[in-house]
Amino acid sequence: MESKLISQAFDRVQADAIAVLIFEDEAAPAELAGVSAWLEELRTSGEFTGKTGELAVLHQAPGLAAKRFVVAGAGKRSAFDAAALRRAVGSAVRALKQKGVKTLAWWLQDGDAAAVIEGAILGNFEPDVHKTSSKESKPLESFLVVASASEEVQAAFERGKILAESQNFTRELVNEPANLMTPMLLADRARAMAAEVGLDCEILDQDRMRQLGMGSLLGVAQGSAEPPALIVVRYRPPIESKTAASKSQDHLGLVGKGVTFDTGGVSIKPADGMEKMKYDMAGGAAVLGAMRAIAQLKPAIPVTALVPAVENMVGSRAQRPGDIVTSLSGKTIEVLNTDAEGRLILIDALTYAQRLGCTHLVDAATLTGAIVVALGNVNIGAFTNNDEMLARVMAAAKSEGEKAWPMPLDDEYKDLLKSAFADLGNIGGRWGGAISAAWFLREFVGDTPWVHLDIAGTAWLDESKPFLAKGPTGVCVRTFTKLAMGW
Ligand code: BES
Ligand code: ZN
Ligand code: ZN
Repeated sequence: MESKLISQAFDRVQADAIAVLIFEDEAAPAELAGVSAWLEELRTSGEFTGKTGELAVLHQAPGLAAKRFVVAGAGKRSAFDAAALRRAVGSAVRALKQKGVKTLAWWLQDGDAAAVIEGAILGNFEPDVHKTSSKESKPLESFLVVASASEEVQAAFERGKILAESQNFTRELVNEPANLMTPMLLADRARAMAAEVGLDCEILDQDRMRQLGMGSLLGVAQGSAEPPALIVVRYRPPIESKTAASKSQDHLGLVGKGVTFDTGGVSIKPADGMEKMKYDMAGGAAVLGAMRAIAQLKPAIPVTALVPAVENMVGSRAQRPGDIVTSLSGKTIEVLNTDAEGRLILIDALTYAQRLGCTHLVDAATLTGAIVVALGNVNIGAFTNNDEMLARVMAAAKSEGEKAWPMPLDDEYKDLLKSAFADLGNIGGRWGGAISAAWFLREFVGDTPWVHLDIAGTAWLDESKPFLAKGPTGVCVRTFTKLAMGW
């Protein structure tokens, strides 16, 4: 979809439709006097009252160059924020494209141009790329933001466009089935993306990882015919950005779980719903999407992304319950359950991130079913060893409208990981499963400020929302980018 910011009188804009927000508790803007009778009728009939998500379409509105005039409900002004705007635009885009609208203009009166373009780009995404017939989606071809263009508005528009396109890049990766998104293919995508936006990309192959001693990661990978890859993407700030952040020694590491398919391994998962486990690389894809945005928005802090990519399979070479592996850190692990594989690959990547000089770490992973039990599909579970670091991540998430909820990591939970035969076991029993998983990671980050985001409940939508298609959400891309930009 093409998108542009234009400053033009809204009644002169040529498009299939031009839309404007109307608040629930307010009169329409004075410029809409020409259609006031229509609006009045909508209100008194109860057809359109300005509630969030409502939409009314008028063809051949008097004095308008656009073919249709659309009012979109913004809800109450007191509850209106960037997230509400993003949703309102997304809902309008998704409803209007189904009506055959190809070019949509948005007359921006209230709010942030970034949220408008984000809502449109995110709302235009459909997960049906592999359908060759009867595609449900009829995407918009062009989206225009109509606003009085100041430098500020222009910058917000560009930023929103980069962010949302990067989030859709992540959604595309996650949406691919596991036969078309093996660890090597994910590495190829990362390399291509890095080349496109001017980042450095290095792929560590199996031999290299063996030399380094990443026994925990390789133990998971050994059951698959698909070789593993450790994807490392580096962003370094331009020399001229000698701000406080670049003068400090801080170096952000973003680590994302990249299990391209999770059968569970020998501790195999039930067949029912297993197809969804193609999204077990959503954390890795989010990290790559964030790097795509970071490369273009150029924060002052160096950022290194690491994506351990493996396929967790059953087979004669697969690791067995009870196997003991030695991680890159030197700690030994008893693999009590081969389905708790995410933590096994993440810890070698976290250790390696520290060796590469990362001083602050954030990881995103579809790590546990238990976080879905705890927080459902609404909040990311956030764990930390450092409250200041958590506060930074929570603030970034909040400002991007990605909900996260702090989870506990008391010392008492650590005991759940005791093993009789190795330094620790890879599972902690039935209760508090998201917490013992996070504790497992914590055992390998030491004192490095670290936040773990469990996105098992938030990286995939089982049912579409008015503003977002079903399937991959691309969660964490905006939070990670914001975190780096605000450092
Ligand atoms: N990838 C899964 C976690 C998951 C479950 C993500 C459901 C999304 C939806 C992870 O590798 C896993 O299987 N975890 C196990 C851990 C258990 C064996 C301790 C789980 O959550 O059941
Ligand atoms: Zn698993
Ligand atoms: Zn998994």
